[in-house]
Amino acid sequence: MKALICKSLGLPDTLSCEDVPDPVPGPGQVVVDMKAAGVNFPDALVIQGKYQFKPPLPFAPGAELAGVVSAVGEGVRNAKIGDRVIGSCQYGAFAEKVVVRASHLIPLPKGISFEVGASFTLAYGTSYHALKGRAGLKAGETLLVLGAAGGVGLAAVQIGKALGARVIAAASTPGKLAVCRENGADELIDYSTEDLRERLKALTGGKGPDVIYDPVGGRYAEPAFRSIAWGGRYLVVGFADGQIPSLPLNLPLLKGASVVGVFWGEFVSRQLPDFVRDLTEMFALIAQGKLRPYISARYPLAQGAQAIADLLARKVTGKVVITNGDAAEVGQAAAAPPPPPAATGAAPATPDGPIALADLHRLAGQSIGVSGWFTLDQARIDAFADCTQDRQWIHVDAERAARESPFGGTVAHGFLTLSMIPATCYELLLGRVQAAQAVNYGLDRVRFVAPVLAGKRVRNRVKVLSVEDRGMGRYLLTTENTVEIEGEEKPAVVAVALAMLM
Ligand SMILES: NC(=O)c1ccc[n+]([C@@H]2O[C@H](COP(=O)([O-])OP(=O)(O)OC[C@H]3O[C@@H](n4cnc5c(N)ncnc54)[C@H](OP(=O)(O)O)[C@@H]3O)[C@@H](O)[C@H]2O)c1
Repeated sequence: MKALICKSLGLPDTLSCEDVPDPVPGPGQVVVDMKAAGVNFPDALVIQGKYQFKPPLPFAPGAELAGVVSAVGEGVRNAKIGDRVIGSCQYGAFAEKVVVRASHLIPLPKGISFEVGASFTLAYGTSYHALKGRAGLKAGETLLVLGAAGGVGLAAVQIGKALGARVIAAASTPGKLAVCRENGADELIDYSTEDLRERLKALTGGKGPDVIYDPVGGRYAEPAFRSIAWGGRYLVVGFADGQIPSLPLNLPLLKGASVVGVFWGEFVSRQLPDFVRDLTEMFALIAQGKLRPYISARYPLAQGAQAIADLLARKVTGKVVITNGDAAEVGQAAAAPPPPPAATGAAPATPDGPIALADLHRLAGQSIGVSGWFTLDQARIDAFADCTQDRQWIHVDAERAARESPFGGTVAHGFLTLSMIPATCYELLLGRVQAAQAVNYGLDRVRFVAPVLAGKRVRNRVKVLSVEDRGMGRYLLTTENTVEIEGEEKPAVVAVALAMLM
């Protein structure tokens, strides 16, 4: 396959498009045939060795893509060959075939093209998290976006409008400002020729913007902060200018204002359910036409280095993508918000194939099968005892248990067996349902029926009891879980579990 390879650290002209061996997926991984890959500022930093992580040389840059799954590794349940997906990885996306962890895939929603899927998550995810989650931007407030014609900047302009704010876009050329206007900006400032503070004063009647979104840093930061409104929130998003500005701390004091850090990647890994909620809400805004991802240029893989060079030269607006084949093709999976059940037709008695979230109600009352086997060996039992600090001898002291236990050896803690339910239940569900995420929501009833001797294998037989539409693309699923023990008639545990699918 072809890949855009970085063999030595440096500017984009050190990249070359070369033949490299096709990748093979390891356990928990898939290979995605890339149709489009989004170009982001961190790609330009990674190839220069200036980013937070440094991949071993040689490597292909690129952190987000959309395409079609072409190979599936051991243990992957949520994707199969032929699925159209959006994937994220730290690097490697600028290649014809890309290895992605299966947990970092979501289905490409219906009506969304590969190129939008490939360039949406990072830029819009960052700006949505920043404006809604970190700044709590409210309808009627004024938002100033610096670097407003860039990838995250233009996303912030659109999201600011979708949240009901008055948006002031600041950028460096009339052409870039025209793009901001087309994308909904109410007011424009050319900060290469106009005085930022004077213009902000004039545009806000002296009050200043309530929220400032800053992905640029450098020399604009301090004048922008000096203009902020009382109680304002200054979002520190990035330093495209290359200079990390410093701020006299009397300024936040005098304005009763906050300096708010935004680190989207860390937010995703620490607060995954919140990210999934953001994603669901953003796909809903796309479906309603309130967000329109703007792609200004497409570069074939062989010219991928030029895409990164143009980004560094401040020549691009909105998003640019690297393509491989037909990147304008659209996805077939359900978009958020899902259509009402009536629109999806009559339910077949036994649904086959992937099920859209909106069609989840078809599973109510049905058995969805039995998971693979899990061995509850002594190492797993000991690890559970360590993390719960519940070290009763019958679980962890093999010698004493062999002498004194009525079972002739150690047994798995009942709650350890119970804790197998999410993994085994989701194994069945996420391979079958087009959900991006399933979150444990609680237990309704639990019965411990029979002990599980150390070293025994268990598996989970799952029946869906009910499905409740909780709005915003979320579905509350109630399942009956029967954890069977290999070779035994009585189950270990029977439990009714609740899960929120999104
Ligand atoms: N905090 C997070 O979680 C997070 C997430 C994603 C991205 N980021 C950061 O956000 C920043 C913007 O990312 P992006 O993908 O939107 O980049 P982009 O598309 O290149 O946009 C950056 C904008 O910054 C302005 N700029 C000013 N000086 C620049 C310079 N010396 N070189 C390049 N651009 C310059 C440009 O607008 P004008 O020409 O109009 O000034 C450009 O449109 C980057 O620093 C990136 O690392 C942070």
